[in-house]
Amino acid sequence: MNECHEESDRASSRLTEQGAIAREAGRLRTASLEQLFEADPERATRFTFSAAGITLDMSKNLIDAQALRQLMDLASRRQMAERIRELIAGAPVNNTEGRAAAHTALRLSEPVEFAAMARSVSERIDDYVRRVHSGNRCGYSGRPFTRVVNIGIGGSDLGPKMVASALQAHTAHLDTRFVSNVDGADIATALADSDPETTLFVLASKTFTTQETLRNAQTARSWLRGAAGGRDIDSHFVAVTAAPERAGEFGVAPDQVFPMWDWVGGRYSFWSAIGISIALRFGCEAFADLRAGAAEMDRHFADTPLERNLPVLMGLLGVWYGNFFGAQTQAIIPYAHNLRLLPSYLQQLEMESNGKSVTRDGKPVAGATAPVIWGDAGTNGQHSFHQLLHQGTHLIPVDFILPLTNPASPEGHQPLLVANCLAQSRSLMTGKDLAQAKREFIDSGCSDAEAQALAPAKVMPGNRPSNLLMMDRLTPKTLGALIALYEHKVYVQSVIWDINAFDQWGVELGKQLCGDVLAAMSGDETAVFDTSTNTAITQYRALQSQ
Ligand code: F6P
Repeated sequence: MNECHEESDRASSRLTEQGAIAREAGRLRTASLEQLFEADPERATRFTFSAAGITLDMSKNLIDAQALRQLMDLASRRQMAERIRELIAGAPVNNTEGRAAAHTALRLSEPVEFAAMARSVSERIDDYVRRVHSGNRCGYSGRPFTRVVNIGIGGSDLGPKMVASALQAHTAHLDTRFVSNVDGADIATALADSDPETTLFVLASKTFTTQETLRNAQTARSWLRGAAGGRDIDSHFVAVTAAPERAGEFGVAPDQVFPMWDWVGGRYSFWSAIGISIALRFGCEAFADLRAGAAEMDRHFADTPLERNLPVLMGLLGVWYGNFFGAQTQAIIPYAHNLRLLPSYLQQLEMESNGKSVTRDGKPVAGATAPVIWGDAGTNGQHSFHQLLHQGTHLIPVDFILPLTNPASPEGHQPLLVANCLAQSRSLMTGKDLAQAKREFIDSGCSDAEAQALAPAKVMPGNRPSNLLMMDRLTPKTLGALIALYEHKVYVQSVIWDINAFDQWGVELGKQLCGDVLAAMSGDETAVFDTSTNTAITQYRALQSQ
């Protein structure tokens, strides 16, 4: 078959499969979720699945067995099981960069060659962290370290920072701060209340070329040099990187450089040495438990039939809403204050991975890819953006994430938190009809005419879909499993859309242009930009010379 025929066959088979799923979507678009529950008393059980301490109740979605079967067929046609095997086996799934995306090897003992590298670095980390905790590794004045400042950005920041916040209730050996922004306000804030004698810096950068991180690292070093007055500050710097030679050039002592590898993507990296600040803060056991929880989810992903496979189910639901209901965003609402950084962590995971518009072989994608990910902790969101979720014009699928218990929570708080979460997911589903709205106005003293006029404003259409992801408690293990679940969900969607989830070429142009703009800001007149950029540069230069 020639290329042209292959291409048109592929296109027509996509149209047919999309037609079948679109028909199901058309049928369910007007279905009532409440009626689906009434018609099937087993609905909640039928659409609830568990793995690795995480329970996914997807029953409040506009889905039924028939539609799910079509989505499963789509996954099978995309050879999902085989593609999952490839990921776990360390095949070069990152085709544009010709490498594996073997983050699972940081948690599992396979593939052996990757897992062996991971183990040897993990042993070095354990040894180093124990020495810091025991005071054997200390600062220039001989005092033990009490604070870790992680300097990194993107995947070298968001993961460890999110974990530090999520596990806040756990005993901390050291205090942690995270500096990412090149805006000097970020590092200035971190240094303001840090003691140079007892502060350890982790320079986290896979490439060790990231401008923001290098600038912040230099500022940290100057601050320390200023305080140390000629004493040796080497012990204050640890580097984590896939480019150890660059860390050496920066001046980090070789025994304080912890390697990572090109087969670990930045946004999948906190399981590697990038997570050293997690181990420094919570101890090596907590870091190991985090990986153990993720490994359980990895095993589930690799071994469970697609129909009961949590990441596959969540991935397909995202495809369902994004490609067949026109949903453009996905809200992540953890009902756990300590998980408040999860939405921003998942923004990078999902949007940098799947924010793509060409397929793995360079053709335009057939439809929408990654949604815009956003959200905040419940109950705070209820008093800001939930209004739009309930009555706005967009269809926004929500993931509610709910640790059911929290031993660290003061008396009386957790029941309220849980009740609010369940009430939100239920009210998104049930809404409020016109008759009920009108009755409420009449009960509050309005005349019939007034109630008639005012009632539409109180109507909540309902039928708005949500997942409920529950766990008994937020622990290192359940957190690890939760993150691995989202990582694999992203992979599942990339397989359906036939895109490479593991490159991020879209961020490069801005980095390249920044160099040219910076040169122009210091007077280099060779580069000419658009008039808008030129005017801003002129304005900046004028202020500098005042
Ligand atoms: O923003 C692009 C990016 O390459 C991310 O993928 C990565 O997590 C981040 O920059 C930081 O990169 P590095 O760890 O190399 O400093």
